[in-house]
Amino acid sequence: MSAINRPTGHQTSATVDSAFLKACRREPVPHTPVWFMRQAGRSLPEYRKVREGIAMLDSCMRPDLVTEITLQPVRRHKVDAAIFFSDIVVPLKAIGIDLDIKPGIGPVVEQPIRSRADLDRLRALEPGDVEYVTEAVGMLTAELGATPLVGFAGAPFTLASYLIEGGPSRNHEHTKALMYGDPELWAELLDRLAGITSAFLKVQIEAGASAVQLFDSWAGALSVADYRQSVLPASVKVFEAVAGYGVPRIHFGVGTGELLGAMGEAGADVVGVDWRVPMDEAARRVGPGRALQGNLDPAVLFAPREAMERKARTVLDEARELPGHIFNLGHGVLPTTDPDALTRLVEYVHTETAV
Ligand code: CP3
Repeated sequence: MSAINRPTGHQTSATVDSAFLKACRREPVPHTPVWFMRQAGRSLPEYRKVREGIAMLDSCMRPDLVTEITLQPVRRHKVDAAIFFSDIVVPLKAIGIDLDIKPGIGPVVEQPIRSRADLDRLRALEPGDVEYVTEAVGMLTAELGATPLVGFAGAPFTLASYLIEGGPSRNHEHTKALMYGDPELWAELLDRLAGITSAFLKVQIEAGASAVQLFDSWAGALSVADYRQSVLPASVKVFEAVAGYGVPRIHFGVGTGELLGAMGEAGADVVGVDWRVPMDEAARRVGPGRALQGNLDPAVLFAPREAMERKARTVLDEARELPGHIFNLGHGVLPTTDPDALTRLVEYVHTETAV
């Protein structure tokens, strides 16, 4: 067995031997494991029902709800992993940043962070700030049985973008203005965010998460030179901070075809690939020693079944030679996706790859 995924005390041997964790470790699998980014929430009617009248961030602080919402897609689709129901901005809220998640928009920060004085508002995250996370992960690992739980956090660059812009941004202009205009302040900001992200991941791992994913969703907005110089060191710091636990670390961003080589160096065990680069080409760019996760275009789930299966087959074919492949979408499930299409996709991948 490789160094990753020594049983941690929380994990049973059935979890450690699951197809998902085997694929993360690049070991032979009984079938290609599959899960979906943003599988919890979004398209599920049972999700909308339990969330009725409860604000997004409030729901993240209620372990009973978090447990139920995390389990919903596992029950319905028979996916090979659960993703913890939370949000990348939860740790920022937990240290007192005045932000909200607005339906249909995303995270909005009341007072953006743009100066040295603003940095003081970014204190370190203590486990006591997110006790509801510890509690929810504990409840989940008890309920999930052999199905691994993926914990997650936002990467320093993606969090910085929300904090500096004050909300979602297409061009990240204020973010880049700070990055180019005040490299010292930028480095300090990213370093603090790396600390907060690492602490948030540690809480989830110590409570029983079997793997963690770092979402650097907006890193694709950067050139490879800027990524290497101004962003990579902070992400390296996060992966190093959780390396000792021996749980697989996944690294994902959107539009990152040009960055895959650099992202492969950040230290993760698994690199997520969006749908713009074929999996075999992605493997060449990432280099040896990493498993890959991806990469069906989420919009393909809107096509007729035969077309969807043809596109899924292409992903499987392109990933055939990889030592470790976790089937996923190239980005999150789109909100209006038919849940039955997701269930059919899981069945298809399992049937086609069963040995
Ligand atoms: O199913 C899962 O993946 C688990 C839960 C999860 C959520 N957000 C719940 C959520 C995860 C892993 C995230 C990560 C996240 N949050 C990312 C990285 C992944 C990505 O898509 O690139 C980002 C960039 C965010 C920030 C954020 N939060 C956005 C852009 C939005 C969407 C706004 C909208 O309404 O479309 C949110 C809100 C959010 N996070 C929702 C959910 C289920 C929707 C809110 C609701 O249902 O009321």
